Amino acid sequence: MKLESYFGSDKLKFYNPYNFDRNITNNNLLEYLLEDYEKYIQKNEFHTFEVKGEKYIFIYKALQWDTEYFKIPTFRLINILSVKNNYLKEAILFFKESVLPEDSYCFMEIPSEDIELIQALGESCFKLVETRLTYYNNTLQLHQYPRYLVRSADKNDIPNLKMVASEMRNDYDRFHADKVFETTQADLFLSTYIENSILGLTDYVMVPNEKNVKPDSFLTANYLRNEWPKINCKISKMVLSAVSSETNKGWYIKLISEMTYHLRDTVGSECIFLNTQSTNRAVFSTWEKLGYKLGCTTHVFSITKKIK
Ligand SMILES: CC(C)(COP(=O)(O)OP(=O)(O)OC[C@H]1O[C@@H](n2cnc3c(N)ncnc32)[C@H](O)[C@@H]1OP(=O)(O)O)[C@@H](O)C(=O)NCCC(=O)NCCS
Repeated sequence: MKLESYFGSDKLKFYNPYNFDRNITNNNLLEYLLEDYEKYIQKNEFHTFEVKGEKYIFIYKALQWDTEYFKIPTFRLINILSVKNNYLKEAILFFKESVLPEDSYCFMEIPSEDIELIQALGESCFKLVETRLTYYNNTLQLHQYPRYLVRSADKNDIPNLKMVASEMRNDYDRFHADKVFETTQADLFLSTYIENSILGLTDYVMVPNEKNVKPDSFLTANYLRNEWPKINCKISKMVLSAVSSETNKGWYIKLISEMTYHLRDTVGSECIFLNTQSTNRAVFSTWEKLGYKLGCTTHVFSITKKIK
């Protein structure tokens, strides 16, 4: 299948996770996506439908880890490609009826720019669960903030950081916002995530290391070195964080600043990005204080296909 012929939409580039960085050319953004989507096609992770002569390609992925963890068959819809979009709603309903198994869960992250798809998903019984903001900083040379002592978390930190992750709940992340998951299940997921991060899922887990400060907060980062040649930019991402309001209040800005120094000075990153929910005012106001700028907005939609 020639995917290029489905690459005419001017919305497509917004699906590239790095579309906020205007130093990356449109061609580069699209080439990256094409290469990515071709991998799904090769692994047979797609389905095509024809509605009244219009072809729709659904690229999706069955998420094995999530399926086992949450005990519900979980799918991530990556994108829906077509030359025209006259029957998008009908195509989505077909996908729901004929591809998704009974009693399964499917979600998709969509850039705000793709308003046509957002409306078609709403009309096909998908629900909005999260609105995400992506912030970025590509003027890292200007970063300046007082220094604080931090260190890399190790295995001994796991029990404590699991507790911090599950206690410092964010009601608006996908797992807490989507009523398909129980709150305790979502809390547990985040504590499993930080445990796995310390065990190697992420490149760096940072915790405070000041005298008389308990290491009751963390911030993780992925260096993303494999991505650098693909987009011609040394980009890295800060991923998960939580700060105990009892013992570490005010440490969030210190961790974000120290991770900015670490990524810039030790890793060699030229651009850093991170995302949060549009509700997390403490978080994005902190990023703005440190020179991070709003780059793009996405929405997460989901559907649970119930047993009839
Ligand atoms: C968000 C979180 C990390 C912040 O921890 P913290 O360092 O103790 O943050 P603070 O409460 O000191 O707030 C940070 C700043 O945001 C400001 N702030 C707090 N609520 C705010 C609001 N509703 N609107 C605007 N600013 C707000 C604070 O005033 C503070 O700024 P200041 O120092 O200039 O006064 C912590 O609450 C947490 O772990 N939450 C749950 C997990 C989470 O959301 N993680 C981030 C995911 S991206």
